Amino acid sequence: MSSQDIPEKNLPTAQDEHGAAVAVADEENPFADPGLPPHEHRIQDIDERAAKRSERTVALLFTTSMLATIGFIASYVTIPIDQNIFVWPIGHISALNFALGMTLGVALFAIGAGAVHWARTLMSDEEIVDERHAIEATPEVKAKVIADFKQGAKESALGRRKLIRNTMFGALALFPLSGIVLLRDLGPLPGTKLRHTLWKPGKLLINQNTHEPMRPSDIAVGSLTFAQPEGLEEHDHDFQKEIAKAALMLVRIQPDNIKDKQTLEWSHEGILAYSKICTHVGCPISLYEQQTHHVLCPCHQSTFDLADGGKVIFGPAGHALPQLRIGVNDEGYLEALDDFEEPVGPAFWERG
Ligand code: FES
Repeated sequence: MSSQDIPEKNLPTAQDEHGAAVAVADEENPFADPGLPPHEHRIQDIDERAAKRSERTVALLFTTSMLATIGFIASYVTIPIDQNIFVWPIGHISALNFALGMTLGVALFAIGAGAVHWARTLMSDEEIVDERHAIEATPEVKAKVIADFKQGAKESALGRRKLIRNTMFGALALFPLSGIVLLRDLGPLPGTKLRHTLWKPGKLLINQNTHEPMRPSDIAVGSLTFAQPEGLEEHDHDFQKEIAKAALMLVRIQPDNIKDKQTLEWSHEGILAYSKICTHVGCPISLYEQQTHHVLCPCHQSTFDLADGGKVIFGPAGHALPQLRIGVNDEGYLEALDDFEEPVGPAFWERG
């Protein structure tokens, strides 16, 4: 319904200096109906060349989307799954994921941008008024729908033909199973992979900054050092996956200050090795307080006592930090004596 169709009594009764309708309040309607502002023409409404330019822009965006979709399919078919590329500032990432993400992003963005530009510049932007109508069906319509439904149920003979009814229910009940079977395509089950890290007896502790194996003398009392397992390189395909589980934090404190017997036994000359992954939701821990031997997770302030088995002394973490048993090999380098005894990271393992 256009403004011309509104009953006279509902129209505002005053006009501004341009002749446009303006708000009028009275006793009965204390909140005035502001009416519609005067319609302003866009450049595309009055200049055919501007409209053509907008049309070409929209077509260009849609064409870009088509090309990006073709690029998406071509990337999927041609790029090997294990190929990595360096992208600044992200680092080494999967070429396939990068290409799929970029092309899909461009394809969707170009469709959205084209539609928005089309709507803003070329589609009619004239506002109209439409009165609200009751949406409830009349009693006669409702009665007719119910009668039709009953008639349909009777004619289908569903109640009488039990064989058809039962097999139909069977077919409908089994059909969703095909969707469940497709879940198998999500990949192999993780098995116990999530419970283990790259640490194992004899693995050297490699300094994450210098990339050199460490001797006990490299770690000063009161210092905090980060380490990773020997053999794990930054350009490895699964580096991120493995370092997320194996990242290690080393501190050295006076053996006399270690409160827990097992913590002392698993250390070497006061050097303690703990998982760097917070047991709350997995942030890397990095704040060390020398005097108290506490480490603090910057995400939600969980605090762990490294001198006492990594116990939680404050914050939302529900589990102590796992400690790695360490020693030195024949050449005097620090090495792991085992894997972590329990899974690292968020403590959801305890809920299963
Ligand atoms: S992730 Fe460490 S406290 Fe939340």
